[in-house]
Amino acid sequence: MSADARPLTVPDLALARAEGRRLAMLTAYDAGFARTCDANGVDLLLVGDSLGMVVQGHGSTLPVTVDDMAYHTACVARGIRRALLVSDLPFQADATRERALDAATRLLQAGAAMAKLEGAGPKLDVVRFLAEREIPVCSHLGLTPQSVLRMGGFKVQGREAAAAARLREEALAVAEAGAALIVLEGVPAALAAQITAASPVPTIGIGAGPHCDGQVLVLHDMLGLDSGHRRPRFVKDFLAEGGSVAGAVRAYVAAVRDGSFPAAEHSYS
Ligand code: KIV
Repeated sequence: MSADARPLTVPDLALARAEGRRLAMLTAYDAGFARTCDANGVDLLLVGDSLGMVVQGHGSTLPVTVDDMAYHTACVARGIRRALLVSDLPFQADATRERALDAATRLLQAGAAMAKLEGAGPKLDVVRFLAEREIPVCSHLGLTPQSVLRMGGFKVQGREAAAAARLREEALAVAEAGAALIVLEGVPAALAAQITAASPVPTIGIGAGPHCDGQVLVLHDMLGLDSGHRRPRFVKDFLAEGGSVAGAVRAYVAAVRDGSFPAAEHSYS
């Protein structure tokens, strides 16, 4: 089986980075869209707790439960042949390491290959606990949507020197604790470039400029759907150029791989 046809594994992420192949990731919440994304070249699918906003219609990700995540993870897993499936630990499912282990185990048993959790600091202990128990971990840093109340909205992070230094340290710390992948959301492009250069593990950007090792978008956003929320600057409507859902996914994958997305107009300074 060619490397493009066989299922992607966690070690393949580091390999892609080493070989300079950018990783294209999208969110998915059901088998049908997962199948279309998978068949059209998406490397990683994320069952994001963004499902609380784009599927369930809430104003934030906070109401999403582990049951919700396990249900949607199982749906998406049934639509995938090649893509690596990442699934979010929802709000407070990672508040203690025991809760995180229970929740992450459910997500892996539902078909995920990796559990994603937001933050560093007190979460480092959780990242390490999971990684040491054979749960591949993706850390999510920068604009962490589960921190929306503390942040006072969905705001770009790391613009001040002290905040930028903290983010650089957090990225190294989560990798040292065992994270195999880092999602960087809503950070200035130059800072994301520095973090990516220093990081021992691949980075995936969303609103983090073009210099990450890969990119992720929420599926509904890249299909131009109105999910009832202000569309952030980093979103591009790929349906407009792709002409169909499959075409949009192909256009997105091609643009991530050749580095034409995100462009400067999708990035923060
Ligand atoms: O929940 C989600 O969809 C995410 C992405 C925005 C990275 O965490």
